[in-house]
Amino acid sequence: MKPDEVEDVEIRLLLEGMQQVYGYDFRDYAAASIKRRLTHWLAESEFDTFSQAQARLLRDRDVFESLLRGITVNVTEMFRDPPFFRAVREQVVPFLKTYPFIKIWHAGCATGEEAYSMAILLNEEGMAGRYRIYATDINETVLKKASEGVLPITEMQRFTRNYQKSGGNASFADYYTARYDRAILLAALKKNIVFAPHNLAADGEFGEMNMVLCRNVMIYFKAPLKERCLHLFDSSLLPGGFLCLGLKEALEKKKIWERYEELVPTLRIYQKRYG
Ligand SMILES: C[S@@+](CC[C@H](N)C(=O)[O-])C[C@H]1O[C@@H](n2cnc3c(N)ncnc32)[C@H](O)[C@@H]1O
Repeated sequence: MKPDEVEDVEIRLLLEGMQQVYGYDFRDYAAASIKRRLTHWLAESEFDTFSQAQARLLRDRDVFESLLRGITVNVTEMFRDPPFFRAVREQVVPFLKTYPFIKIWHAGCATGEEAYSMAILLNEEGMAGRYRIYATDINETVLKKASEGVLPITEMQRFTRNYQKSGGNASFADYYTARYDRAILLAALKKNIVFAPHNLAADGEFGEMNMVLCRNVMIYFKAPLKERCLHLFDSSLLPGGFLCLGLKEALEKKKIWERYEELVPTLRIYQKRYG
């Protein structure tokens, strides 16, 4: 066997260990991406080989936590893909406004910027106090950061531009307080957001959602895990509810496709049919 093939065996055993001992199953993640992430993790770690890491992993939860942080890609930003948020504002919110109260699930929320962006948008559209956002992720370290609502001040110019391009016309600076190198988001924005752990590979649905967003998460999954997620979202959504995927993730050709209409095809916004 070539060294590269031996390493693939080691990676399979490592993932098996994570599943058997800690119950987190990464075996259905896209192989090339997981190998890239793990190779980077190994280079930064105290271990020379995956087998060495494996021996410690089985008895040391800290190694598991570190691997979990290494495997998951947590990149996100405020008003990521501004045309998407503009379409939500202009084409989805008018439907949402017809309900007295709505529930939204952000699956794979990372450090929470997507959920905070949604809270700003809904407040601006006159829906303050009429929504609850469930923002979930497998990685508890990022969830902790999410609930703190603190962003690097160096990013605020870029986020302000995103906000404006997404149709926001208030002053974005009113949504945070600058403290040295940090921007602290207004506490009021957190009021209707619940941050909670949830594993898309193992956990169940969230009932009666009007909108489910799972953007830039399933790109890391193999087909069967993608299907699992889509069924989870489908059973969480009320008829007439909205499913929003990442710009590179289409619903076409998936099993649940017939139950959805494309509201904004290029921006991956789908609406569940009533019938
Ligand atoms: C690239 S971020 C996307 C963040 C945000 N949705 C966005 O589009 O900006 C992907 C997130 O998915 C999370 N994730 C990966 N596997 C997951 C799983 N099995 N269950 C729940 N979240 C998962 C990662 O921890 C990470 O925070």
